[in-house]
Amino acid sequence: MTESVLADKATAREMACQELVRQARAIELIHAGERSALPQIRDLMIEFVARHAQLLDPDDFELPVAHSRFHKLVEGGEVPYGFYLGVTRPGKEAAPHMHGLWGITVGISGREINHFWRRTDDGSAPGRAALEHLGSTEVALGTGMTLAGDEIHSTETLGDEPSWMLHLYERPFSGFPSLLFFHPERGTVRKLPAHAAKTIRG
Ligand SMILES: [Fe+2]
Repeated sequence: MTESVLADKATAREMACQELVRQARAIELIHAGERSALPQIRDLMIEFVARHAQLLDPDDFELPVAHSRFHKLVEGGEVPYGFYLGVTRPGKEAAPHMHGLWGITVGISGREINHFWRRTDDGSAPGRAALEHLGSTEVALGTGMTLAGDEIHSTETLGDEPSWMLHLYERPFSGFPSLLFFHPERGTVRKLPAHAAKTIRG
């Protein structure tokens, strides 16, 4: 492709992504709470991937050297969300964690499993936490998952190929609060500043 074709594509992608974020914000504002808005925004994003396959061609988004890499699509502006295309190498895992803000993942290519957990202790013992596994959802082309701010998930990229996924978060990475990371087998929890959690988020 020539440089001008690539530039046109980048502009078209940026416009489409900004429109998606505006539509998502409109859905969130119509709903009183995030839980009822999130599945609708997820479905909007799945439709977005189907409609804009050319703009979201995996070949246009570089692989990470290791683990995962998030390509910025929209950050800040009139809508306070963070919208990214995440590329993750197979086998990459993220331990159970709570973001403290909502997030949605939908698939473009490759497969990622999300496990969902519930905290069963009362939080009174410092550094200790008990988790119960609730279930899992596989994300691939045509599917997605939603996570409310107080929900806990863990992720793993499945198969032999990297995964390319769209991630929409309530805030850009720079505005993330500290994350809670859990170790279900050891029964522990620790709070990590958002910047320290960069390499293990998912
Ligand atoms: Fe996560």
